[in-house]
Amino acid sequence: MHTLMMNVNGSDVHVEIYPDETLAEVLRDRLGLIGTKVACGEGECGACTVLIDGVAVTSCITPAMKAHGRRVVTIEGLTEDTELHVIQQAFVDATASQCGYCTPGFIMATKALLDANPNPTRDEIMHGISGNLCRCTGYYQIVDAVALAAKRLAEEERS
Ligand code: FES
Ligand code: FES
Repeated sequence: MHTLMMNVNGSDVHVEIYPDETLAEVLRDRLGLIGTKVACGEGECGACTVLIDGVAVTSCITPAMKAHGRRVVTIEGLTEDTELHVIQQAFVDATASQCGYCTPGFIMATKALLDANPNPTRDEIMHGISGNLCRCTGYYQIVDAVALAAKRLAEEERS
């Protein structure tokens, strides 16, 4: 067993893990953070996207020990108290989710995108979320949601 120490959603955690455990397994099975979804399990669909030190990673193929000493943010970490994050609310308002299985991954990819590029073009949005797959929506509403989130975050910044 190895001791994994990381900060998850603002809290320091120490957890004993097997060396071959993935970050998705540790987050879901050991820490109970089941908002992070696992679909393909092969790094292809983006459902398991979380942030490590602000960078979007596919946690299903990321060895958990890669997060040692680092700051991890999951979908649960975006919500403040009971308030949805601006990006989450934009996905609701743009009806950008149907079954919703891909949604946490898209939202975390959007967070990384907008932190790096607060005013993306539609092409930049499509590129930014190109690592995430959705079987339901056709992507138009998702791109609308990201654009809406960018607009609202810019308005918040100005006020
Ligand atoms: S579940 Fe991780 S990329 Fe698909
Ligand atoms: S909303 Fe169902 S997979 Fe995206």
